[in-house]
Amino acid sequence: MRNIMVTGGAGFIGSAFVRHMVKTYPHYNIITFDKLTYAGNLENLLTVKDAPNHSFAQGDIADREAVGATIEAHQIDTIVNFAAETHVDRSILDPDAFLRTNVFGVYVLLEQARSAGVGRFLHVSTDEVYGDVSEGYSVESDPFLPNSPYAAAKASGELMVRSYHVTYGMDTVVTRGSNTYGVYQYPEKLIPLFITEALEDRPLPVYGDGMQIRDWLYVDDHARGVDVVLHHGASGEAYNLAGEELRYNIDIVRQLLALLGKPESLIRYVPDRPGHDRRYAMDASKARALGWKRQHTLETGLPLTVEWYQNNAWWWRKIKTGEYLEYFKQQYAARLASARDQV
Ligand SMILES: NC(=O)c1ccc[n+]([C@@H]2O[C@H](COP(=O)([O-])OP(=O)(O)OC[C@H]3O[C@@H](n4cnc5c(N)ncnc54)[C@H](O)[C@@H]3O)[C@@H](O)[C@H]2O)c1
Repeated sequence: MRNIMVTGGAGFIGSAFVRHMVKTYPHYNIITFDKLTYAGNLENLLTVKDAPNHSFAQGDIADREAVGATIEAHQIDTIVNFAAETHVDRSILDPDAFLRTNVFGVYVLLEQARSAGVGRFLHVSTDEVYGDVSEGYSVESDPFLPNSPYAAAKASGELMVRSYHVTYGMDTVVTRGSNTYGVYQYPEKLIPLFITEALEDRPLPVYGDGMQIRDWLYVDDHARGVDVVLHHGASGEAYNLAGEELRYNIDIVRQLLALLGKPESLIRYVPDRPGHDRRYAMDASKARALGWKRQHTLETGLPLTVEWYQNNAWWWRKIKTGEYLEYFKQQYAARLASARDQV
C-alpha cells in the first residue's frame, strides 16, 4: 500500500480520514478525488493543503475517464471510497443523484480499479442498510432492509462491492458506520443544523416526536475505524463501526441547547420524514477484534463539536446561503409553519 485514492475526501468523514492518514502515514501518498458537489469543500482540507504526501484531483466517481486517468497518473494501488450522496431528506426529494453516485458510481470505481489491477478497495457503507432495528443490535451477517432511497442506494452499491470480491476475487473490505458527528459536518444534518440554527436563535425543527434512536460516533473515531479495517480487515468482510452511544434525537437536541446556553423553547415538533426509521443499533465486536476502539463518547465529542461551530462561523456561514437556503425552505418552511411546541 503506497498510493491511496480517497474518493469523497473533501466531504465530512472523508476529509477527517484524509487529515488523519496524511498525518499518521507520511510514507503514503494520499490522493483526494472528489467531485466537489454542494457537500464537498476544499476548506475541509486546508490543514493538509501543503503536505508533501497529499494531492487533490477533482472528478466524478461515475466518470470512467476521470477515474481511470487518476488511477494511472498516481499509480493508485488502494482505493477508499467515501464518495456518496448522503442526505436522506434530499434522497426523498430527488433520488436521482443517489442512484447515479451511490450505485453506478461505485460500479464504475470498481470496474476501473479491477482493470487497473488496484489492490485493496475499501468501501464506506452505513448502518442504514440494516433498516429499522426495533430491538437488539445488527451484526454484519444480518439481512439488508433499507427504507429510504439513500439507504437502498447505499445497500445496492455495497452489494456491487461484494459481487466484485466473489466474482473477480477483488480484495474488498466494507465498513458500516453509525450516525457520525463532529467538526466540518455540512449543516444540513441533525447536529450541525441544530447547533448553527440555535446559535442564531432560530427554531429547531424536530421530526415527529423526536423519539427516534440513533447510535452516535465521533468523526475521528469513524476515520480511525476505516484506517484499522483498511490495514487489518479480512478480504471480502464487512465491519460495523458503531459508536455504542444510543440516544433519542430529542435528548441530543436538549443536550446541544444546554451546551449552547440556549432555551428549550427553540424546539418545534414538525411533521415527520416519511419512512423515518425509529432505531438503528449495531454490534461492534467484529471491528473491536481488529483492534479498533472508539475514543470519544457523546460526553466528550459533543462539547468539542459545539465549540468548533462556535469558533468557526466563517466556515458554516458561507455554506448557509444560496442553494442551502433554497433546500432549507423546501424541506422545512411548510413543516415549521405547522409546527407545535409540544408533542
Ligand atoms: N454522515 C454519517 O453519519 C455517515 C454514517 C455512516 C456512513 N456514512 C458514509 O460515509 C461516507 C461519507 O459521508 P459524509 O457524511 O462524509 O458525506 P458528505 O456528504 O459530507 O461528503 C460526501 C463527499 O462525496 C463527494 N461526492 C459526492 N458525489 C460524488 C461523485 N459522484 N464523485 C466524487 N465525489 C463525490 C462530495 O463532493 C463530498 O465531498 C458516505 O459514503 C456515507 O454514506 C456517513
